[in-house]
Amino acid sequence: NRPIRIAPSILSADFSRLGEEVVALDNAGADYFHVDIMDGHFVPNISFGPGVMQSIRKLTKKPFDVHLMIAPVDPYVSAFAKAGADSITVHAEAGPHLHRTLQAIRAEGKRTGVAINPATPLSAVEHILDDIDLLLVMSINPGFGGQTFIPHAMEKIRLANALIGNRPIELEVDGGVSAANAGELAQAGINVFVAGTAILGGNDTSTYASRIAAIRDA
Ligand code: DX5
Ligand code: ZN
Repeated sequence: NRPIRIAPSILSADFSRLGEEVVALDNAGADYFHVDIMDGHFVPNISFGPGVMQSIRKLTKKPFDVHLMIAPVDPYVSAFAKAGADSITVHAEAGPHLHRTLQAIRAEGKRTGVAINPATPLSAVEHILDDIDLLLVMSINPGFGGQTFIPHAMEKIRLANALIGNRPIELEVDGGVSAANAGELAQAGINVFVAGTAILGGNDTSTYASRIAAIRDA
């Protein structure tokens, strides 16, 4: 049984007060910080780069769960490792040499993750299970926060959990996660819950602790 981790996505933070948001989330009980990196090419949006990430790294001791939505990804692995990533998750769809990319992440001494988009079959990760510490099942098409959970992802997560078996791999969900579906997601095998809007929507720091607790309790 993997421990439950709540990972607020700072993509939904008020970027004009990013540092304060990180501190507020830390105090509110975040387990991981989910850091969404978008390149305007692999996904139709641009977020921020390693420099911004490095500037907030010193504000918390909690792990940075870095989700790279960029292609090609190999030229940037080292920069995000040096900017303070604890785990680096890359998309199975982002390049032809996933195994090589995972080796590069491990060579940097970081935990490895692979993300798969809603249309990507689980078979895309079947042969790299011994090379990952984390499997991220996308429950939206990546690019934006605030989208609706795609129902079919629930069954995929159950199958992913069975595929992982006894391997020491965290199972993470990203997109449309809230207290309303967190219970069923946990039943399906999820232990890392990414949530942007459900925690940071409205950017009212006084609500972060109760919103994180609501997902954890569910
Ligand atoms: C989207 C990102 C997500 C996003 C989740 O591409 O990967 O992490 O911030 O936001 P919500 O929780 O609002 O769906
Ligand atoms: Zn993400």
